Amino acid sequence: MAEVDSAMEIDVEENQQPRKLINKGKAVAMGSSRESKATPWVEKYRPQSLEDVAAHRDIIDTIDRLTNENRLPHLLLYGPPGTGKTSTILAVARKLYGAQYHNMILELNASDDRGIDVVRQQIQDFASTQSFSFSGKSSVKLVLLDEADAMTKDAQFALRRVIEKYTKNTRFALICNHVNKIIPALQSRCTRFRFAPLDPVHVSQRLKHVIEAEGLDVTESGLSAVVRLSNGDMRKALNILQSTHMASQQITEEEVYLCTGNPLPKDIEQISYWLLNESFAESYEKISEMKTRKGLAIVDIVKEVTMFVFKIKMPSDVRIQLINDLADIEYRLSFGCNDKLQLGGVISAFTQARSVLVGAAK
Ligand SMILES: Nc1ncnc2c1ncn2[C@@H]1O[C@H](COP(=O)(O)OP(=O)(O)OP(=O)(O)O)[C@@H](O)[C@H]1O
Ligand SMILES: [Mg+2]
Repeated sequence: MAEVDSAMEIDVEENQQPRKLINKGKAVAMGSSRESKATPWVEKYRPQSLEDVAAHRDIIDTIDRLTNENRLPHLLLYGPPGTGKTSTILAVARKLYGAQYHNMILELNASDDRGIDVVRQQIQDFASTQSFSFSGKSSVKLVLLDEADAMTKDAQFALRRVIEKYTKNTRFALICNHVNKIIPALQSRCTRFRFAPLDPVHVSQRLKHVIEAEGLDVTESGLSAVVRLSNGDMRKALNILQSTHMASQQITEEEVYLCTGNPLPKDIEQISYWLLNESFAESYEKISEMKTRKGLAIVDIVKEVTMFVFKIKMPSDVRIQLINDLADIEYRLSFGCNDKLQLGGVISAFTQARSVLVGAAK
């Protein structure tokens, strides 16, 4: 962590320009406390400068250096949702063009306007017009193609030629979740950066920043619950935090789980206890009752119980069988199979595991 912090400070000291942008970013965030309560925090706290982007320090520092040296290549940023890909490019644009950034960037969402016409027309019109040079600012334009993995193959082939044609005064930034859907010819024209899910430390740090700015009352276990349920997706983390805040004054573990409809760890422990100790009928009745009372989804119960099975002591062959059975049930549920039948399936899987264990003990 120390390394990360110092790297960020060095960057700021080396160059005066980002400092202004950081202040600008902060000002937006501070000023926004006057905004209506319903402003989505994902937008309110979108990183304004590269320094605000949490995690991915190596990537950010590289992009920052290339931007400073005016050597920005075509970029391909890929990785799972909510990891900062779009935010990073928007921060680069702000850094390159300052207040003029709306004139110098063409933002296209490939999944809205997919097809060859978009590539040919919009990009071509934008890229071929004269670009203005502002004092000290870059005159290279930026085309941002978000969700590029939704583009048709034809559009991607057309884009390949457009990129080549306008490389002199235009940089392309392709963003996507699935890099394997981008044709190799396009990939090879870009410098690729993979945005991994954020690790819990970074999610937690960023959440603390928001908690402080909003003056929220969050317990330690409440914060860990948000971090845990977000699975490295910062957008999801902020959305959980905001919706829990709207539902309750204090953000506790219980409130977070209630708000997201996820079963609480202690509920899963209880359910697992029934599965391991009660008869089929008793288990069925008790789990159904809890499921209805707490509004839990059977698929979440199956997922969490599977995680629980990893934690309890049992011979590995019994464990493997049980986990396989639970995975089958999860798969069937993903096709919309009947909840009641699948709950019966879960209980049977445990009954079977128990009879093997009892048999082995005899
Ligand atoms: N690395 C990060 N640092 C700080 N905030 C982040 C980061 N990643 C995501 N966020 C938060 O989540 C929101 C969504 O991020 P962003 O749009 O950059 O994600 P993305 O990677 O482009 O996701 P998608 O693949 O779904 O488009 C941002 O507005 C910001 O609030
Ligand atoms: Mg995005």
